[in-house]
Amino acid sequence: MPEFKLKVNNKTYIANVESETPLLWVLRDTLGLTGTKYGCGEGICGSCVVHIDGKAERSCSIPVNDVSGKSITTIEGLAENPDHKIFKTWIELEVSQCGYCQPGQIMTLAALFNSNKKPTKSEIDEAMSGVLCRCGTYPRIKKAVEKIVKEGI
Ligand code: FES
Ligand code: FES
Repeated sequence: MPEFKLKVNNKTYIANVESETPLLWVLRDTLGLTGTKYGCGEGICGSCVVHIDGKAERSCSIPVNDVSGKSITTIEGLAENPDHKIFKTWIELEVSQCGYCQPGQIMTLAALFNSNKKPTKSEIDEAMSGVLCRCGTYPRIKKAVEKIVKEGI
């Protein structure tokens, strides 16, 4: 099997997997980074979002072959800073319910802030609308995002 050198959360990992293996499987099953969640496996739900070179991408839909040499960040990498404004606001406003979709929500939002510290309501809606939550936490997510934009990140 081919060998891939992956840069995840600023660490280097070696993965021996088939080149078409989706990144999500490599993160969870090969590297043991289970914070990124499997939802639909078809690029629809957004629960598997990670950052690739700072941009939000659906890891279920990207073969590992395409990310060699790129910088990957998962929710575990973001959580290295527990004082991150998104985490603090999420906890303060008790955004999560079952929690399953929340890594995808948070990684999507963090990527938006990477490129735009003061997104407009429509930019927020556009970025977040593709991440589904079966618990219906959307109103709390919206409130949390508005608070972060108001207070600054
Ligand atoms: S698991 Fe990747 S978009 Fe649903
Ligand atoms: S909090 Fe349960 S799926 Fe979103």
